[in-house]
Amino acid sequence: MKIVVTGGLGFIGSHTVVELQNEGFEVVAIDNLSNSSESVLEGIFNITGKKPIFEKLDLREKLAVQDFFKKHNDVVGVIHFAASKAVGESVENPLLYYENNINALVYVLQELTKLNKANFIFSSSCTVYGQAEKMPITENAPVQSAMSPYGNTKQIGEEIITDTAKVTNLNSILLRYFNPIGAHSSAEIGELPLGVPQNLVPFITQTAIGLREKLSVFGDDYPTSDGTAVRDYIHVVDLAKAHVVALKRLLDNKNLEKVETFNLGTGTGSSVLEVINAFEKVSNQKLNYQIVGRREGDITEAYANTDKANNVLGWKAQFSLEEALASAWKWEQKIRG
Ligand code: WQD
Repeated sequence: MKIVVTGGLGFIGSHTVVELQNEGFEVVAIDNLSNSSESVLEGIFNITGKKPIFEKLDLREKLAVQDFFKKHNDVVGVIHFAASKAVGESVENPLLYYENNINALVYVLQELTKLNKANFIFSSSCTVYGQAEKMPITENAPVQSAMSPYGNTKQIGEEIITDTAKVTNLNSILLRYFNPIGAHSSAEIGELPLGVPQNLVPFITQTAIGLREKLSVFGDDYPTSDGTAVRDYIHVVDLAKAHVVALKRLLDNKNLEKVETFNLGTGTGSSVLEVINAFEKVSNQKLNYQIVGRREGDITEAYANTDKANNVLGWKAQFSLEEALASAWKWEQKIRG
């Protein structure tokens, strides 16, 4: 069965392509290479022995999207990762985010819903909860006015899908990721942040390898155990496997509603200092860091209630924080070594 993975050469996309191929799916990876490189195809091949069909395509080009789905009209499902995802950049350049994250989604859905099967997995984010009132966060927690244009595009994306599913053949699962980290155990694929990393773990590994002078810890005056902010860090391979489970749920018509939502996290919150300590343990080296002021827009705490993912979706994260950090470190050493 043919599955389209948009953003298929990206961080989570490439790991999901591997897991789909491991399950015997034929994969068409779409990417515009704005935040990835074609060499990722080699990495995927080195892991699975198969190269996905690769189509270099910018999903903002409506005619190109139409041509793609005319060519691949035997597609039975789409996993949609393609989007811009830097919170800070989205504040500075909101229109880039609305064009890339919304227009592209609309064009894909317009073509997908013309096919026999319209199964759609959407890459969403816990950022839609803003600072949730209650921890751990369930799927029923209110979706608050997002903290950034990036978060807003995820919220709007979910609404577009929900409205479309009401009047078309679309069946969809919205996956709200917490904080994806780590890399495939082979170190053949991993996170390739362009420029200065915005996210914590790639900044940690780049500091440890000597690419960055020191890590700035954004605030130690939060109301948490050690004053630093708490997140739910989930191994990217656990996340990728969840996408295959969700896709199979749709293909097997096991979805109870036309649009279902699942939080994907470990269910455990870790503070920035706890992540640093865990990294020092797995890398056996001290990390150079300095406590500085809070980062604009950051929330205090977010970690997932994973009951629905565990009991309804039938998926549970397997890797620990230490294992995820060890895989991120192995990847950093491989690409910079
Ligand atoms: C984690 C913690 C920072 C960098 C965002 C998006 C989310 C997803 C992941 C795309 C925070 C602290 C960070 C640094 C630090 N995006 N930190 N020093 O902001 O929780 O989530 O990225 O898929 O949708 O909202 O992730 O890794 O940026 O930050 O102290 O140099 O680490 O303040 O507490 P975040 P993050």
